[in-house]
Amino acid sequence: MTARKISLTGVKPSGTPHIGNYLGAIKPAIDLSRDFDAYYFLADYHALNTMRDPKEFRHSVYDLAATWLACGLDPAKVVFYRQSDIPEIFELTWIISTVTPKGLLNRAHAYKASVDTNEAAGNLPDDGVTMGLYNYPVLMAADILIADANYVPVGQDQRQHIEITRDIATSFNAIFGDVLVPPEGLIRDEVALITGLDGRKMSKSYGNVLPLMADPKELRKAVMKIVTDSRQPEEPKDPDADNIYSIFKHFGTPERLAEVRGLYLNGGLAYGRMKQELFETLDVSFKDARERYNDLMADPQKIDGILATGAEQMHATAQRVLGKVRAAIGKTTFAVKAR
Ligand code: ADP
Ligand code: TRP
Repeated sequence: MTARKISLTGVKPSGTPHIGNYLGAIKPAIDLSRDFDAYYFLADYHALNTMRDPKEFRHSVYDLAATWLACGLDPAKVVFYRQSDIPEIFELTWIISTVTPKGLLNRAHAYKASVDTNEAAGNLPDDGVTMGLYNYPVLMAADILIADANYVPVGQDQRQHIEITRDIATSFNAIFGDVLVPPEGLIRDEVALITGLDGRKMSKSYGNVLPLMADPKELRKAVMKIVTDSRQPEEPKDPDADNIYSIFKHFGTPERLAEVRGLYLNGGLAYGRMKQELFETLDVSFKDARERYNDLMADPQKIDGILATGAEQMHATAQRVLGKVRAAIGKTTFAVKAR
């Protein structure tokens, strides 16, 4: 009998989840949980790199947990937990950091971007760079390796992190034997990079997001802010170059998409009406999820209970994998029982 493959992913609780997170990570992950053993978690200690307000931090954890559950994650089928509840991840982070070349982390995109910004501003290269930012990819590698994960559903921006994880697993195995499982990223082309209100990647850091669980008023306000050119309704337009259609195409029915494409190409499409249609489509698509989300947010103890069960289940897996690693490096356990 061959064991089922394992799918694992994490999202940082660091601000309001958005439609890019949903299409790029949450939905593909939930779809995969039907065919794989799934481990999905809240990467709260990754979020600590940017979260400096304890109240906001606490809120973001509940917000993201409620979002996953409202979007269809079934805690009876998925091991759903919070990273900070699994101490084995942090022990593994240290162990693998001892086989991780510093140069590998020097090349990580987020770190390099900080250095480039500093250099452009005439600052010292590491100005404002914390060890949390620098070591981010090692903690992420430990998140993945601690579960022997085979597949990691993520958006395009995480591709390099998965490659770093493979490199680290391979370095460890070259020294200590075949212990860690090098994972593969699962990046669906059609949702690898969802664009935001301004056409750049939809991202909390750009403030260009469509929030996922917002009430209709707030959602409509965000949709109305989508940037368009100044073409008149009768002028032909390229749907694939328009920021409204780029989002609408993930939610419209195939028939409606074909009609709308025709209007763009042949003239007859007004941006204002298209925004209204996008808003209405999103509002209907997420109505039930939003209700489930609001119910959960009103009952944080329920979320606590679900995460506590997930932590217990994950703990068993993490103990097993860390046990293999400890044995491989030659860490002994005490021969005498602790008094
Ligand atoms: P953000 O960029 O808003 O901070 P995160 O880094 O927390 O988002 O991303 C969480 C997950 O959502 C990751 O798997 C990431 O690849 C995916 N993701 C984020 N933004 C997008 C996007 N615009 N398109 C596709 N996937 C995305
Ligand atoms: N770095 C990921 C992000 O910014 C979040 C994350 C942390 C993650 N650990 C992970 C994703 C492990 C997949 C697997 O979105």
